[in-house]
Amino acid sequence: MTTAATAPTLRTDWWRDAVVYQLYIRSFADGNGDGLGDVAGIRARLEYLRDLGVDALWINPWYPSPMADAGYDVSDYRAVEPAFGSEEDAAAMIAEAKALGLRVILDIVPNHTSDEHAWFTAALAAGPGSPERARYHFRPGRGDGPPNDWRSVFGGPAWTQVAEPDGTAGEWYLHLFDAKQPDLNWDHPEVRAEFESILRFWFDRGVDGFRIDVAHSLVKDPALPDVGEEDETLLNAVGGAGHPFWDRDGVHEVYRGWRRVADSYADPKVFVAEAWVASPERLVRYLRPDELHTAFNFDYLGTPWDPAALRATIDSSLASNGTVGAPATWVMSNHDVVRHVSRLGRPPASGHSLNDLAPVEELDLELGRRRARAAALLMLALPGGAYVYQGDELGLWEVEDLPDAVRQDPTFRRTGGAEIGRDGCRVPLPWSGTAAPFGFSPDGATARPWLPQPAAFAGVTVEAQDGDPGSMLTLYRAALALRREHPALGEGPLEWLPGPDGVLAFSRGEGFVCMVNLSGGPVALPAGAEVLLATEPLDGELPVDAAVWLTTA
Ligand code: NOJ
Repeated sequence: MTTAATAPTLRTDWWRDAVVYQLYIRSFADGNGDGLGDVAGIRARLEYLRDLGVDALWINPWYPSPMADAGYDVSDYRAVEPAFGSEEDAAAMIAEAKALGLRVILDIVPNHTSDEHAWFTAALAAGPGSPERARYHFRPGRGDGPPNDWRSVFGGPAWTQVAEPDGTAGEWYLHLFDAKQPDLNWDHPEVRAEFESILRFWFDRGVDGFRIDVAHSLVKDPALPDVGEEDETLLNAVGGAGHPFWDRDGVHEVYRGWRRVADSYADPKVFVAEAWVASPERLVRYLRPDELHTAFNFDYLGTPWDPAALRATIDSSLASNGTVGAPATWVMSNHDVVRHVSRLGRPPASGHSLNDLAPVEELDLELGRRRARAAALLMLALPGGAYVYQGDELGLWEVEDLPDAVRQDPTFRRTGGAEIGRDGCRVPLPWSGTAAPFGFSPDGATARPWLPQPAAFAGVTVEAQDGDPGSMLTLYRAALALRREHPALGEGPLEWLPGPDGVLAFSRGEGFVCMVNLSGGPVALPAGAEVLLATEPLDGELPVDAAVWLTTA
């Protein structure tokens, strides 16, 4: 392991064009053989990540949790879930990542705690009208039913009634997600102070930043009015003017406070917002200079494989981010959406849950992989930063045939199976070998991976792709290496170039051109250009659904 003494120098504005690897800890690598990914697994694979060429890691929640929503139900924000490891393991992991030049971003979940968090158990015990209940949203019911018509993002009502300490049926509490995820009351000063203290706790331990879970939901209309959208399923709901819980103006004051905390450190601490909002203009309100540094560009994630649509999203994103001086943050997949290989292999559609997409009979995985290769070169050539979800670099697809019995996403349960949920993008990574667990767990482990891996993972393990010039892994490694070296990549101008219909072509500064062919036939490459990297073999032409990076004289 490289020691701190030889650690690479880290840039202070690294976050403006960083490539961040999303590490879904449950499914990355299992160090102790219990079938669940863990900190030991991360530590053993840090050199893989350094060699891949990413700049930072975002680790999904690793805090103690009853795991009603895969760790997004936190019972203690200042510790590590024992199933993932110890505080010492986490500290060692952070130090080792830093020594390899990798920044570490954790995930903070401020909208809700677990119902097993000490604050919530105290609130239940203390009863109506108590200061303990004031940290959450407890209300009497309306008649026999809940206080209003709000629906949980995961299905069903957003309210659950509690039994009072004397055993009588009592108040209701708000949970925009699972019943085991009670929403905090962000109008309460103790809630605000607590989260600033949690940020400092981890910043003091060397963490470089936070991804903010449902960053747009914290502040609620205190009148708790009905929304009148009875059957809305709201995971990706964006709200609109005056919506009582999504994207309310009051949330920005919270982030001004968080920014002050971040800026009190000499080494910059950064935020990335998960904010599903109605427009790029609403999104950049989170990115004003005294608020958050970056926010996932979900408009881009949801843009179909269509040249005009992609160009329009790129232009509107860059224009709106430019108004506040914030870098763009491109993303194609994460642990909440159908993997993009499986989206791109279907007829173009907006949306990213299986319910939004064409049926599996219309899936062409080869086409999805080919387009995913092209999409990777497109994304990594755009100005700003980018996120890579673990397994993107292997070309993993959505596992759509998981048996119902193994599904763990609360969405599946709360909708009675009407929404299949997000387990299919969370299947443990294949590292090596020809049979499950494909090196995910150590040799001799008796526990099986927490979700079953398909036999076809044998063809896409890291081991199988390593050194194969045609593999997705080789493409990502080459692209990330070039992106580091080439002065035109990362932040900077983008200029669209004229080209045949259906071809996206742009230059990045002097002498770098990216071309992506979304037309119906092959197109000629510019005369005199030298190929740096291409997603398919070229013969003077760029084939359909292929991309190329070129240097021009
Ligand atoms: C967004 C997270 O990415 C998702 O996985 C989680 O279920 C919800 N927020 C609730 O915390």
